[in-house]
Amino acid sequence: TALSRMEQAKDMKEEDKLYRYDGVLYPSLMCPEEHLKALKNFEAREDDVMLVAYPKCGFNWMVGVLRKIIAEAKGVKTESKMPPLIEFFGPDVIKTVNEAPSPRLLGTHVHPDNMPASFRAKKTKILVIFRNPKDTAVSFYHFSNNNPVLPSGQSWDAFFSDFMSGDVPWGSYFDQALAWEKRMDDPDVMIVTYEELKEDLSDGVRQISTFFGFSLTEAQVQQIAEQSTFSAMKQSSSNSHGNMGNVFFRKGEVGDWKNHFTPKQSQEMDDAFNKHLAGTRLGAKLNY
Ligand code: A3P
Repeated sequence: TALSRMEQAKDMKEEDKLYRYDGVLYPSLMCPEEHLKALKNFEAREDDVMLVAYPKCGFNWMVGVLRKIIAEAKGVKTESKMPPLIEFFGPDVIKTVNEAPSPRLLGTHVHPDNMPASFRAKKTKILVIFRNPKDTAVSFYHFSNNNPVLPSGQSWDAFFSDFMSGDVPWGSYFDQALAWEKRMDDPDVMIVTYEELKEDLSDGVRQISTFFGFSLTEAQVQQIAEQSTFSAMKQSSSNSHGNMGNVFFRKGEVGDWKNHFTPKQSQEMDDAFNKHLAGTRLGAKLNY
């Protein structure tokens, strides 16, 4: 299982923890090649609740929100100790997932071009969460150093440089952002940002449940928002994430990049942001 795969990480050399598939780095234990190959044949359903995020943009936050929305609106429990990432599944889990009742909560960090084609064919609704790239990089740096399945021991400067060149697990932030930017008008895709959810989580919960076609009362919306703040989720994280709780729920703030970036790194990120995302709607949403 995925949990036992995590156990194996303890005996692994740092340099073996990532490998390259189709030019992109992935964690060897959680996303071996056979999992990525099997993605092609994954059978999406029209009523799946699909969540996409580049790593560290708030995936687990939205998993918590979506689980609560599904439980309230449909009475379906989707709790699990493992994140619902389809690239982690492998053949045994896929069998179980194929038989799971609808609505299923599924997610991925892979680039949209590498997602199973069935999601598009079925017009499955997809929620995408992005976060400003500076805080994403900082969050990724801490995560990598504290998660046994990812390489640790890298300095911030070295990690930053890998992030900028896309040599981090699941590849380049900007490649993924640009690919989703092109699908902003797609009625089956909803893009939210970490920053706007920090600003007004109730509104986010309301919009997200409407997008997926669930109807919640205002009281249910408020309750879900209250249970999904950073402090509430961190408090219950030993139930949801076992002993990795503190790693997944680290700081939960906007602007922690200011405690890490040198002025030169900040400029380098601004230049990359301007080069790739300036003038785009996603860029405007992410304006930091
Ligand atoms: P930090 O490392 O900046 O604290 P992901 O789930 O995609 O791995 O993203 C993890 C980031 O989301 C972490 O950022 C984590 O603290 C933050 N996060 C998790 N739950 C959150 C919540 N309820 N509110 C705000 N941020 C949250």
